Amino acid sequence: MSRPHVVLFESIHPRAARILESRGLAVDTEAGGRAGADLIDRLTAVPGDGPIIIGIRSKTKVTADVFEAVPRLTAIGAFCIGTDQIDLDTARRHGVAVFNAPFSSTRSVAELVVGEIVALARGLFAKSQAAHRGVWAKSAKGAHEVRGKTLGIVGYGHIGSQVSVLAEALGMQVRFYDIVAKLPLGNAMPAGSLEDLLAESDFVSLHVPDTPKTRGMIGRDQIACMRRGAFLLNASRGTVVDLDALADALDEGHLAGAAIDVFPVEPKHPSEPFESILQGKENVILTPHIGGSTVEAQENIGEEVATALLGFLERGSTQGGVVLPGLDEPLPEGVVRIWNVHENAPGVLSAIVRTVADAGVNIVGQHLATRDDVGLVYVDVPADAQDAARTLCGAIASLAPSIRTRLVTGAAA
Ligand code: NAI
Repeated sequence: MSRPHVVLFESIHPRAARILESRGLAVDTEAGGRAGADLIDRLTAVPGDGPIIIGIRSKTKVTADVFEAVPRLTAIGAFCIGTDQIDLDTARRHGVAVFNAPFSSTRSVAELVVGEIVALARGLFAKSQAAHRGVWAKSAKGAHEVRGKTLGIVGYGHIGSQVSVLAEALGMQVRFYDIVAKLPLGNAMPAGSLEDLLAESDFVSLHVPDTPKTRGMIGRDQIACMRRGAFLLNASRGTVVDLDALADALDEGHLAGAAIDVFPVEPKHPSEPFESILQGKENVILTPHIGGSTVEAQENIGEEVATALLGFLERGSTQGGVVLPGLDEPLPEGVVRIWNVHENAPGVLSAIVRTVADAGVNIVGQHLATRDDVGLVYVDVPADAQDAARTLCGAIASLAPSIRTRLVTGAAA
């Protein structure tokens, strides 16, 4: 079998190609995205008979027919946060690993939020727009320092905790609310409840995922709990805030302003129109879901996903992936690894072990992880049995519950 071949679509940051090429991998890059027959034609034209790894962003659609038509497709790097463009269920059933980069834009989002807190406190956008219109709106009325003010963070995960650190550096008091017990950073203090946090905060910033519990979690009742004159920021998911309730609270003067980066319905492409009930309110900062849109975040994504793909090729790691069971164990010197994804059914492991034992090959290590209906097993054998291990991969692949089997040797290429 020839060495793995990587195709990176959609102008992925060049750092990714550099990292993969530094380990001897052949990497093709393309500016555009592909889908359907076009993607299948491109992948079936990849030379050799080795594994194919693809890197995509949102425009390349990896649908079920792609998995059927390209059995060499072994791993997908989604160089972005979302994975909706991939048929994940079919990926799992074909034993194809999928990696994404959920945390590479953490700092970018946190910086935007902190910048917006200052901008809201000073009425920056209204004053800037007035100046553009030739109006000299010089006044201290309603303009405040953020030092000493209370910031309430809802969702103290990667982004929420970064916002906490940056806000404290500005002298803000930080409270947070999370459904999971979290270690407070610096002087941040957990709030007793969401309502307590809303009532205590001058600024409330949302950093929760999209779950059934967070959908609509900031509605009329919660906004009513907020202090009169407080500000609301949402750079998490558009489903979290009831924008009609927010618009009413702004109109009534209950809230002094808002900064909203995410919306219940967002244009899929810059050419599509954008509409929101918040348009025209000069105390509201509207941004087009750009929290994570920085050059630095793109570079981090390039590195994070390329490194995950290398870990997958070199030692069979699926840690941090989104479809296969997560497993990552060092591959010791002098050892090669039979990597097998199988249907999670009784008797599979014993059939695999029996196959190896019948070939007279010693097993020096074995690791298993399962996720739903799929299992992943590493069977480590001495490297001097590599030829036998290669033959064993074929035998194990032909066992009925096997989905995908490969030999992992420590080298990417
Ligand atoms: P994370 O998973 O690290 O943190 C989320 C936190 O929310 C966790 O601590 C979790 O326990 C908590 N949480 C979950 N349900 C909750 C509930 N009902 N009440 C209170 N806390 C709850 O996620 P991360 O990376 O910090 O991202 C946060 C949000 O930011 C996500 O929705 C993500 O999609 C969004 N995001 C937005 C970007 C943008 O461009 N605006 C870019 C990157 C992420």
